[in-house]
Amino acid sequence: MSEIQNNTVLSGVQPSGDLHIGNYLGAIKNFVNMQKDYNCFFCIVDLHAITVKQDPNKLKRNTLEVAATYIASGIDPNESVIFNQSSVPAHAELAWIFNCVTRMGWLSRMTQFKDKAGKDKENASSGLFIYPNLMAADILVYKATHVPVGNDQKQHLELTRDIAQKFNREFNCENFFPIPEPIIDENISRIMSLKDANQKMSKSDLSEYSRISLLDDSDAIRKKIKKAKTADTVMPEKIEEILKLSEVHNLLNIYSGFSGIDKQILIEQYKGKNFSNFKSDLSDILVEQMKPITSEIKKLMQDKGYLLKILLDGQNKANKVAQKTINDVYDLVGLLRNET
Ligand code: TRP
Repeated sequence: MSEIQNNTVLSGVQPSGDLHIGNYLGAIKNFVNMQKDYNCFFCIVDLHAITVKQDPNKLKRNTLEVAATYIASGIDPNESVIFNQSSVPAHAELAWIFNCVTRMGWLSRMTQFKDKAGKDKENASSGLFIYPNLMAADILVYKATHVPVGNDQKQHLELTRDIAQKFNREFNCENFFPIPEPIIDENISRIMSLKDANQKMSKSDLSEYSRISLLDDSDAIRKKIKKAKTADTVMPEKIEEILKLSEVHNLLNIYSGFSGIDKQILIEQYKGKNFSNFKSDLSDILVEQMKPITSEIKKLMQDKGYLLKILLDGQNKANKVAQKTINDVYDLVGLLRNET
């Protein structure tokens, strides 16, 4: 850790399978950059995943796959704490306390619940409704001060801040929980479908061509970019024009996200030209950046023992911090516990 003191980061990724470049650019890539400046906890949120139906065997495999992806992307298990949520009981315990702090009205305003539950709200799990309380527990059980997330999680972060404030007020413990700050990269945090840029890139889209999976090989990447929707024009000169062509804008975001080159500079380079060169350069960048990560994920997935060891080590480190918080919370709330 460097000069920033007392700054803790927590973030989480769901092990719901088939991670794609949207998850990478929107979340994991930013995690890597935070390691040197913050005390970091990177969680694999398996308890969040089961708010919708999961295949138990696949869930275990997907949990290992997120761990492999974290490591392959550059998260150093010696520097950051990598663990799965269910292995640290304090997350679920604190979530219960927050179920009793959060108001129904707050939860009923959450747009992600509305999106995920869809038309059949009666049939959604109650876990899906209280999901944001568990997320708040993930963050606050480590007293995290900063939370790198995608744009779609902004509302949950605001709720987390409300919960922290209400808890501190209600139990007369000013500053017990910090009020965590979201860290959102507005430029690249929302990667959309390659086929329809009105939809988020998603593992549940029926078309494989809508997304680039972190396990795709170079041929698949090139094929998908080639088929990606653009426009019947050339690359416009002005960003205002590009914003109207949402698929083109999305590809520009991906290009900029992976290359680190400012969008304006890319526009200068490709303006007035058709999209074939742009697409072939974009494929080159993606292949170059993804290839080492993809092959490392595949290699790590062959070594389950190693991944389990990393998770156990993370669990032990996380538990130490989380256990202390939950003990203090139980005491503040008035839950009697015999000291052992
Ligand atoms: N809800 C987040 C998502 O779907 C995942 C998540 C769970 C999370 N707990 C978290 C993200 C805590 C940041 C911090 O992407």
